[in-house]
Amino acid sequence: MTRGVFGQSTRFGRRRLHLGVCGSVACYKSAELLRAWRKLDIHVSATLTGAAQHFVKPLLFESLGAIPVYDGMFAPGTDVFAHLEPGSRAAAFVVAPASADALSRLAQGAASDMLSAQALSFDGPLVLAPAMNPRMWANKATRANVATLQERGAVLVGPDSGDVACGEAGQGRLAPLSEIFLAALRALAPQDMAGLRVLVTLGATREPWDGMRYWSNPSSGLMGAGLAVSAWLRGARVTAVCGPGSASLLPRAITTCAVFRAREMFEAARDVWPQMDMGMFAAAVADFSPSEIGPQKFKKSLAPEGLNIVFNPNPDILVALAAVRRPAQKVLGFAAESAPDMQSLLALAREKRADKKADVLAANCINMQGSGFGSPTNAVAVTDVRGREEIWPAQSKADVAWDLCSWLLRL
Ligand code: C5P
Repeated sequence: MTRGVFGQSTRFGRRRLHLGVCGSVACYKSAELLRAWRKLDIHVSATLTGAAQHFVKPLLFESLGAIPVYDGMFAPGTDVFAHLEPGSRAAAFVVAPASADALSRLAQGAASDMLSAQALSFDGPLVLAPAMNPRMWANKATRANVATLQERGAVLVGPDSGDVACGEAGQGRLAPLSEIFLAALRALAPQDMAGLRVLVTLGATREPWDGMRYWSNPSSGLMGAGLAVSAWLRGARVTAVCGPGSASLLPRAITTCAVFRAREMFEAARDVWPQMDMGMFAAAVADFSPSEIGPQKFKKSLAPEGLNIVFNPNPDILVALAAVRRPAQKVLGFAAESAPDMQSLLALAREKRADKKADVLAANCINMQGSGFGSPTNAVAVTDVRGREEIWPAQSKADVAWDLCSWLLRL
């Protein structure tokens, strides 16, 4: 599975999650989910229903680090109060895959097997990732059970449409694991950005010159994706304006607007800005665009001596939107710089923050190991409007993003 930008996060270590696995062809995929959460050092306990154990064995989950793995209410050696344990220990309860039968038992408050008894004694966030035959999913009984569970606050992830194991096609496929992985992190995360509307720009822009050539830079969009996902995990409603390729880094709960050139990014960001509480401008926007010559290919034989191309300046999105903001709207900017050391980088950050009128500015070095374009990690110098300054050593972009969100909240 693609763990995405949060696959390296250290902000969920030692949080506790309970995983319920039901009988479905898709239940082999739960082992992948378990690995992904364990990689973040999340403590995972698990329950396999009787039906799940026809497909996969508790040993698989034990071997991948789930402690404990429950295999039945009355299985030998099971603690008499095991049905209450996730309720008193876990911070989130995820059922993936959730079968039609499990949804029915959860909706009715049954406690006839270990998984439903544990769910009944759990009052935290419940995430359900159903997987079943499309006709079972479409049945009015299942629809009613799902509606009941959602009314009570359960978060549904999927199911998706497509081919299912029985050879039919329709809605019933387990959602992508990356979506379930992140929905669980959201259930574990503090909801300290709940109610906030956040705009993020990310990725590079592409400024066309002829029908096949463009001016751009190597930005991957990872830093912006880290910010968008951090804010969403913490409860914000996020709108992301994404340069080419970067929208695929985001879960589908984030509203995305895919753009190519700087002017399109500017217009998309400007249109939503009045409704936002925060703007995080992480995109590596091209400062200039070549004077476009049209959709046809320019023949190199037309310029045997070389080319002189005129470049025109693009709008600075951050500057333009910071200039028209309401006082309560917070603005985070970035600076990709080449600097000999972190102290010089901090000086550049200070200058750029003041020039651009951002509340917080994070500068990273493009010429330092473990930092900058395309790197999964970033070392940054951060400065804010109140004069607070910090230098952070290289850490994953998800962690940098998480801490920048915290910084903006404290401002
Ligand atoms: O001036 P510089 O490109 O170094 O500024 C970087 C910051 O400004 C980043 O936050 C970037 O997203 C933003 N920016 C922008 N529009 C531009 C150029 C930069 O929003 N045209």
